[in-house]
Amino acid sequence: MIVAPSLLAADPGALAQAARALSEAGARWQHLDVMDGSFVPAITFGAATCKALRPQVAGTLDAHLMVLDPERHVAAFAEAGADVITVHGEATPHVSRALRAVRALGRRAGLAVNPGTGLDALRWLLPDVDLVCVMTVNPGAGGQPMLPGMVEKVRAVAALAEGRELQVDGGVTADNAPALRRAGGTVLVAGSALFRGGDLAGNLARLAGEAA
Ligand code: DX5
Ligand code: ZN
Repeated sequence: MIVAPSLLAADPGALAQAARALSEAGARWQHLDVMDGSFVPAITFGAATCKALRPQVAGTLDAHLMVLDPERHVAAFAEAGADVITVHGEATPHVSRALRAVRALGRRAGLAVNPGTGLDALRWLLPDVDLVCVMTVNPGAGGQPMLPGMVEKVRAVAALAEGRELQVDGGVTADNAPALRRAGGTVLVAGSALFRGGDLAGNLARLAGEAA
C-alpha cells in the first residue's frame, strides 16, 4: 500500500521543508494538488512550484491537475519533473488527447474521476491510462469527509482497472484506509490525516496499515 501525502495540507510558506520532511519520513510518493480557480474555485500551485519541489521529493512526484483544458499544461508539468500527471475527464472534451500527451512526454498518465462521474467513459480510456484517481470528495479543498458510497465506487473501478494503480483521493483516514485497501485502492492520498499532528513517520505508517 502506497500513501501519497498531499502537500496541500502542508504549510504553504514552507513547502520545500515539508517535501523534504516527508521524504525523510519514508514517503515514496508525494501528491501535488494543482488548482486553477476555474475547474475548482481555489488556486494553488503551478509548474514552477512543482519544479522547485522536485529535488526534495524522493520517489514519485504525482501532479493532480484540477485545471480546465489540462492538455495545455501537461508539457509544463512533465518539464517540471512530475512522474505521474493526472487529468480530470470532466475538465476537457479531449481527455484522450491529454492522456496520450502525458505518455508521449514519457510520464505516467492518470485519469481522475469526480465522485458523481460514472465509469462508462473510463472503460474506453483505460488503454491510455496508468493510474485511475477516484475522487472520494468533491475536488477543490482538503479536509473534507469522504462522501458516502465511495468504497463501493473504488471496488467498481478496481474491477475495471486491473493492473493499474488505483488512487483514492479525499477524506482518507487511518480508520477508512483498511476498507479502501480491501476495495482495491493501491495509492491512498492523505492530506489532513497526515499533517493533523503527531509525527509524520508514525502517521504514514498508520495510514499504510503498518503498526506504529
Ligand atoms: C482535493 C484534493 C485532495 C486533498 C486531500 O481536491 O485533490 O488531494 O487535498 O486532502 P484530505 O486528505 O485532507 O482530504
Ligand atoms: Zn488530489
